[in-house]
Amino acid sequence: MLKRRFSSSTKKPTGEKRIRGNVGEGRKTVVCVESFSRPFLRWAGGKQKLASSLVELAPARYNRYFEPFFGGGAVYFALRPKRAVISDVNTELISCYQQVRAHPKLIASLVQRYARQDSPAFFYRMRETLSQRGSRIGRAAKFIYMNKAAFNGIYRVNMQGKFNVPYGPSQSGPAVPTRKVLVAAAKCLWRARIVSADFVKTTK
Ligand SMILES: C[S@@+](CC[C@H](N)C(=O)[O-])C[C@H]1O[C@@H](n2cnc3c(N)ncnc32)[C@H](O)[C@@H]1O
Repeated sequence: MLKRRFSSSTKKPTGEKRIRGNVGEGRKTVVCVESFSRPFLRWAGGKQKLASSLVELAPARYNRYFEPFFGGGAVYFALRPKRAVISDVNTELISCYQQVRAHPKLIASLVQRYARQDSPAFFYRMRETLSQRGSRIGRAAKFIYMNKAAFNGIYRVNMQGKFNVPYGPSQSGPAVPTRKVLVAAAKCLWRARIVSADFVKTTK
């Protein structure tokens, strides 16, 4: 009979958990890499630093998890509930999550391409096209790139509904999510109904 005894685990910033363990009679050491979900957007008021403490406060058993002010979804991605309703009034944000859930690999390759082209001029060209019609997949990829390249990851629109945050990525450039991070997030998002709505509606 195979016995598995895990001796150590290290969280990697790439969205992977590397587990070293001894398996089988001969105690062969294996390292298996398990993807875990984490937020892939910077979001004002995001709870990423508090997420693990908040998860510890969650009841051991519950039915459906509701997160009506989803934003970056820090607690959801840490908790990974089996059934959930996640919602936000920001339709562009919610559409981004719906598209990442359906097309994580394609969106990852687009955001990586945008990050390679990153410059102030590229950012402002992209910002101009963000409010134009286009494929939902393309809009989601642009939304992620803009989120990482815009000042402090702020999302703000003007009276005409146009995104108007200036360029301001972190010093090392826009830290766009990798394919593994988006694939792990997509798997986690399949557990939820993703709704664009005011909290009053989703919590009724
Ligand atoms: C502080 S952020 C949430 C941060 C999130 N908990 C996280 O960890 O990233 C607040 C969110 O609430 C959303 N929001 C604001 N007013 C809302 C409303 N009336 N109904 C639903 N969502 C709303 C905003 O679009 C924003 O994404």
